[in-house]
Amino acid sequence: MNLILRKEWLAPDIALMEVEAPRIEKRWLAGQFIIIRPGAHSERIPLTIVDSNAERQSITMVVQAIGKTTRETAALDAGAHIADLVGPLGEPARIGSGARVLCMGGGVGVAELLPVARAFRAHGNHVVALCGARTDAYRILDGELRKAAGDLKWATDDGSYGFHGNVLQLLRGMAQPGDFDEGHVIGPIPMMKAVADATRDWGMKLHASLNPVMIDGTGMCGGCRVTVGGEVRFACVDGPEFDAHLVDFDEMARRNRAYREHEKTILDKHACRLGLSQ
Ligand code: FES
Repeated sequence: MNLILRKEWLAPDIALMEVEAPRIEKRWLAGQFIIIRPGAHSERIPLTIVDSNAERQSITMVVQAIGKTTRETAALDAGAHIADLVGPLGEPARIGSGARVLCMGGGVGVAELLPVARAFRAHGNHVVALCGARTDAYRILDGELRKAAGDLKWATDDGSYGFHGNVLQLLRGMAQPGDFDEGHVIGPIPMMKAVADATRDWGMKLHASLNPVMIDGTGMCGGCRVTVGGEVRFACVDGPEFDAHLVDFDEMARRNRAYREHEKTILDKHACRLGLSQ
């Protein structure tokens, strides 16, 4: 059982949670994740480790309440406990030095981008961050990102803050082939695919942090299978970061969609039982 020390709403459905996890706090590196089960009978969900605090022996995660289990998690408040929490899992992000690095994040992926941008900066890279949100109300971790990146630009779908449009359009308007040596992208699958397609001939390395369906997080269940460069890889143990220019994003989107109907049924059942103490 892991005690929740702090819970804060960053946006209407996005919560930040600081959780006591002394062993993970000592070991985690940028790009790694945890798998949690908010309650004893919940499903497991993966969440990226966003930050940590050595004094409080805690880690921070950000959760968007969209499905049954993410809603259960986001509903927990400071003082409650998380039933299971395992990590750090996955390979850390590959962080070189002395490069011009473009970090791109969309939606709740912006939270996952933060430790990666911070690590690039700490290793002497010049970091520019491009972040996307639906509206100004959904912009998260702005202050932290401004400290982590040398330059931060926002795009919002409705133009309520920063550039009016998405991250891909922002990228096309401000960067050209040769401007950056390396890039990191995390967010919705269509966004990662579009950024990979747009930069394929730019001569820069682009890493994507993938978010397929995960069940056990240990390479045993096959749920997180992805195809990279024609080879089968498992995001939980071989990733979550892969060469974005080699990822089969269409297959990944199909596999994620395969569970959508089931997830909707579970969510509807859960909504029906609210108020019945279940
Ligand atoms: S989550 Fe089961 S193999 Fe990756």
